[in-house]
Amino acid sequence: MNVVIPKEIAPGERRVAVTPDIAGRIVKAGNAVVLERGAGVNAGFLDEQYASSGVTLVDGAQAAYANAELTLKVQRPQDDEIALLPEGSALLAFLQPLVNPQFAQRLSQRRITSFSMELIPRISRAQSMDALSSQATVSGYKAVLLAADALPKFFPMLMTAAGTIPPAKVLVLGAGVAGLQAIATARRLGAVVSGFDVRAVVKEQVESLGATFVSSSMQEGAEGAGGYAKALPEEQQRRDRELIATTAAGMDAIITTALIPGKPAPLLITQAAVTSMRPGSVIVDLAAEQGGNTEGCEPGSTVVRNGVTIMAPLNLPSSMPLHASQLYAKNVFALFEHLVKDGSLRMDMDDEITRGVTVTRDGQVTNDAVKARLAGGAT
Ligand code: NAI
Repeated sequence: MNVVIPKEIAPGERRVAVTPDIAGRIVKAGNAVVLERGAGVNAGFLDEQYASSGVTLVDGAQAAYANAELTLKVQRPQDDEIALLPEGSALLAFLQPLVNPQFAQRLSQRRITSFSMELIPRISRAQSMDALSSQATVSGYKAVLLAADALPKFFPMLMTAAGTIPPAKVLVLGAGVAGLQAIATARRLGAVVSGFDVRAVVKEQVESLGATFVSSSMQEGAEGAGGYAKALPEEQQRRDRELIATTAAGMDAIITTALIPGKPAPLLITQAAVTSMRPGSVIVDLAAEQGGNTEGCEPGSTVVRNGVTIMAPLNLPSSMPLHASQLYAKNVFALFEHLVKDGSLRMDMDDEITRGVTVTRDGQVTNDAVKARLAGGAT
């Protein structure tokens, strides 16, 4: 099978889907790998490293895609790239099919078989393929570094000849993969950390990292399919916002990570809560891609409101492209091994992983959630 690794052209994207090490493993499995020259450079991987793994280097996207049977990417293709994908070939990337179901329809019209890394089922067997988790780990870590950098204070407690400095207080909203990594990172930097989530099951995880669990009175039943959170009734959301506002007032930094799959991010920090925080405090909103958890945040920008810095970075994994790419490439390879046998795609649509991750096949959109979106229904 001809496997192609093109250069990522989405604005700001520095990751690459396949590292030289993983490319070598795909070659060893009996496939040809073609890399668009320079595709790994922004992530720290040189063309020569790929070449010594047995990869063929070509100049430009057109030459790279020319004989593609399977294209491995990070971001979903831009319009120009879709036109280059050979009809009937296969594509694997973060396709965002629930956010943009029309994109899936375009792929099906071109008879592209497509797999979306967001749709890996959250089951033990698929853990090695779970790119959402690997990239969320990067985001959670980096968010704390951004907060520490922007805060005009130390994170750790310091006892110096010039006096004792108390540790920073950090609140993490949403204790999923990114949130737990943010808690662990803030603790490592010496902050006093609290974590909040609507899923009661995470209390123990938060506490095991040495943080305090801030609880809302009504958490039972907040967990939905796949361990994700469900959207909550308005009354509970109002209570949670009040609790968060009271807690926020004493915090130096807040990291927000709360997401509901396929829905806008829940609003957790109101304008009033921001106003109650001390000037110089920092909020890093990791839910910015889905609109943000903070009222008044501006996705992709940093704003200062009443002296409180609100950062809403997009695509944080791309800011740590070497390790983000290494983790992503391992996830991609695990899925590749699951789907490709003896140089051909072997798709068992009765298998939970294959069925879950497939978006389009044989000119049809096959994924139920994406089909529901296209029909205008809920997922
Ligand atoms: P996510 O990125 O969708 O959400 C982040 C966090 O926000 C979640 O913990 C969620 O409960 C929380 N949240 C949602 N609405 C909220 C609200 N209104 N207020 C406060 N918090 C809110 O989720 P993520 O991090 O991708 O994973 C969530 C869970 O999925 C994990 O904790 C785990 O239980 C499960 N999981 C299972 C895996 C597996 O079995 N292979 C792999 C990864 C995650």
